[in-house]
Formats: sequence, structure tokens, C-alpha cells
Amino acid sequence: MPPESRPVPSADFLVRRADLRETALERGPRSDALELAPGELLLRVDRFALTANNVTYAVFGDAMAYWSFFPSHDGWGRVPVWGFADVERSAHPELGPGERIYGYLPMSTHLVVRPERVTARGFVDGAQHRAKLPPVYNQYARVAADPGYRADGEGAQMLFRPLFTTSFLIDDFLAESGFFGAGEVLVASASSKTALALAFLLARNRRGSVRVVGLTSERHRAFVARTGCYDEVASYDAIEALPIRAGAVLVDMAGNGSVLARVHARFGDRLAYSCLVGATHWEERGGAQALPGPKPAFFFAPDRIRERAAEWGAAGLETRLEESWKPFAEAASRWIEVAQRSGPEAVREAYLETLAGRTPPDRAYALSLHEG
Ligand SMILES: NC(=O)c1ccc[n+]([C@@H]2O[C@H](COP(=O)([O-])OP(=O)(O)OC[C@H]3O[C@@H](n4cnc5c(N)ncnc54)[C@H](OP(=O)(O)O)[C@@H]3O)[C@@H](O)[C@H]2O)c1
Repeated sequence: MPPESRPVPSADFLVRRADLRETALERGPRSDALELAPGELLLRVDRFALTANNVTYAVFGDAMAYWSFFPSHDGWGRVPVWGFADVERSAHPELGPGERIYGYLPMSTHLVVRPERVTARGFVDGAQHRAKLPPVYNQYARVAADPGYRADGEGAQMLFRPLFTTSFLIDDFLAESGFFGAGEVLVASASSKTALALAFLLARNRRGSVRVVGLTSERHRAFVARTGCYDEVASYDAIEALPIRAGAVLVDMAGNGSVLARVHARFGDRLAYSCLVGATHWEERGGAQALPGPKPAFFFAPDRIRERAAEWGAAGLETRLEESWKPFAEAASRWIEVAQRSGPEAVREAYLETLAGRTPPDRAYALSLHEG
């Protein structure tokens, strides 16, 4: 019997919604005892990526309904992640055991989905509780039909692809907006994968027309400079000494309130646009109302995907993404080591490290809740 169809004890990694530092492992029945209604699939969650982005999902769990994808109970939440799963059991006529799936998953050993709109490429989870959530998160890809899939590229796909997609959309949005008349893009949390991907794309697509400055912690400055993605790298200590040139756009990846306030104070009206992408600094947010310069605008990738998919068609968007993805995936695999960890304790350690912002930027986690 292949491992993906062997029954195993099920478990969920839970976090306390009111205090993200509190975690619990909740064990459930053996997977062969999990009930399936007609039309449902039991997915065995094999491996998933964990980065600061997943912390933002938890921080915005209530405000943006991220807790609603994989509901839990009594004030606990299941943090959404991107990863791979295998069909362990099927009560659906078109999908059978052993099929490998890529998509949005909980930090769990198992997930029950109800495939709808099934094609050779994938399906949508039609579970009632997901109906009103952004569609991009409800889509699952059947890897056997994905021409871009490579078994040895799974780490890069689950770790970088969702972040890269966001960076692609920001790059596209800024270009379409003529960089709001600015000649410089300041990228805060420059060491994050989303920031590196944005800087990579800005450098490739518009070398010379905008200057790209990475802002990062002093301890991450050497790493960021080594990637060669930015025209200049400055540490947060140097914000007050940043030269003010023709006008700048700020793209703030991780939402550190004090960095945001200091950049706004330094640039004031010379800041042409301020774009807030993430909120990983869950303990240092707030204060955005009284800032000099433009009001920060939140960039929500699923909204922009919807817009571009309507204009270019889903296939047009996919082709454009695919063209720029490969060079970035190659470059990122030189900068960042994928650390594989399995078992509940390893998952807990990686989660707490990520929550505290202690993960070195040249490391990224590929995790499994199943014991190694
Ligand atoms: N809006 C959207 O649709 C969307 C989509 C994708 C990603 N995002 C956001 O983009 C951001 C980056 O995500 P990622 O997965 O690329 O991150 P990552 O690679 O895990 O980023 C790690 C870096 O973020 C900074 N950081 C994060 N949390 C921190 C903390 N608690 N304390 C100190 N530094 C912290 C540090 O950078 P520095 O030292 O350089 O500051 C750290 O090196 C996240 O906030 C994510 O939510 C948003």
C-alpha cells in the first residue's frame, strides 16, 4: 500500500487566536475513521511551506477571514499554508486515491474537500463554508497535469510561488501606475522572499528607469546585499540619512509600524505612494493614521489577480507568471536553503521561530506534521 493511502492517526496544529504564541496539537481519529460524504475527498497533507506570510494570515485571521478556511473551535485557529497533499480516500467519481494535489491547506495531517468544477488541471473546493472566501485560495491543482511541475521543484513551488505571484502583481501594478511619478522604490523588509522577488522583477523589467533601495535590519544587510537584487541596501538605522531624490514609492512588506512611520517622516510629501503588503510585525503595528505623506494602501493580491485575470484571461495571466517565475526560482534556490522538518515538535519550533521573526532570511521551512 503506498504511504499516501495507508491510514494514520490524524492531527491538527492549532494556535490560540487571541495569543498566537500559544499552540496545541489536537489528535483526531485514525484517518480511515474520518467520514466522507458522497463527492468528498480525504487529502493527506504531505508537506507545506511556512514563512512570515503565514504569520500575516494569522494576524489577519479575523479581519480578513483567514480563520474561516479551515475552521477550528473555542478560540483556536488552523493557520493556512501552501503545500502538497495526496488523495488518501475518495468518494468522488473523478478523483482517485494516490493523486497528488497542490494548494491551500491547514497545518494538519488531513483535510476533507468537496471538489467542484473538476478539470484535468484541478478543482475548486466547493465546501459551503468557503463559498464567500477569495476564490484564488479555493483552487487546487492536480500536479500530474501541471506542465511546470517537477518533483524536485516542490520545495520552490510551495515556498516561493505564492509569494512570487504577489511580487509579480506589485511589479505590474507599480509599472501600470507609472510608479506614481517616482524615480525610486523603497522596499522595507528587503530580506523577505516577497521583497527579493519584487526587487528581482524590478531589476529585470525596468533596470535604469527606477532605482530600487532595500531597507532591512542590520543583521540581514549583508545577506540582502549578496543577492544583488537591489541597487542599494540600507539598514533601518539609516532611514533618517536616506537621500531624498526625485520622489519615492514605499512598499512595506512586513508592516513594522516604526519603520513605516520613520520612512513617512523622512520623505513626507516626496513619498508618491505607500503600499502595505503584510503585517507580520503583529506586535509593532498601528499609528498609520497620523503619518505625513500619502495614506498607506493595503495591497491584497487576490483582488489584483481577479482584475488581471479578467483583463488578460486566466491563461494569459498564467503564461506571464510562468515566463518570469523560472529565472526567479533558479536565483532563489541559490540564496535560500530549504530546511525540511517533520513531526509535531519540529512544526511547533519552526512556527514559533517564524512568529518571532527569528528565521534567518537564507532559510525557509518545508514542514510535515507527520512523524518523519
Ligand atoms: N498582501 C498580500 O497579498 C501578501 C501576499 C504575500 C506576502 N505578503 C506579505 O509579505 C511579507 C513577507 O512575507 P515572506 O513570506 O516573503 O517573508 P519571509 O521571507 O519569511 O520574511 C522574513 C523577513 O521579514 C522580516 N520579518 C518578518 N517578521 C518579522 C518579525 N516578527 N520580526 C522581525 N522581522 C520580521 C525580516 O526582514 P527584515 O529584517 O528585512 O525586516 C525577515 O527577514 C509578509 O508580511 C506577508 O504577509 C502579503
